[in-house]
Amino acid sequence: MNSDSDLQIAGDILEVPHLLQPAKEHPTTVAEFVGLAREIAADRGRWAHLVEYDATTRWYHRLHTGPGYEVWLLSWVPGQGSGLHDHGPSSGVLTVLEGELTERSARGPLSLGAGAQRVFAPGYAHDVVNDSLDGAVSLHVYFPGLTEMPMHHCSAAELEPVGV
Ligand SMILES: [Fe+2]
Repeated sequence: MNSDSDLQIAGDILEVPHLLQPAKEHPTTVAEFVGLAREIAADRGRWAHLVEYDATTRWYHRLHTGPGYEVWLLSWVPGQGSGLHDHGPSSGVLTVLEGELTERSARGPLSLGAGAQRVFAPGYAHDVVNDSLDGAVSLHVYFPGLTEMPMHHCSAAELEPVGV
């Protein structure tokens, strides 16, 4: 430390608890929502037993809610896809928990293996599909919670590129 420094801390900060940052119970920033998704992804006991595969309809389960956000668990049998959609006013974090998904957006197709994460802003449109021969599981955090999921009636390749 520079001995010319005029910065001094008087006393021990641990003795003045009101100056400490309280531990956050809920995420409020994009980075914290990404962190929440990683935390849940790493804790298989929290989600693995809930997963069901349904070949006839899309299967999803609301895993967790907090003030201003929701966490959903989704399964994908081979060939299942979401169709091209956006998320209304919601931002989101998509995390692949198991298997492999393909995301098609204005940027082209992207292969997402277990552990891969995608962060998207309001208005971002994509089509997510399981192009593999095995089941896949994904975790979706939406903030604010998803209130609409408008479908787009064109292909991902026809979308105008967006800066996300
Ligand atoms: Fe989506």
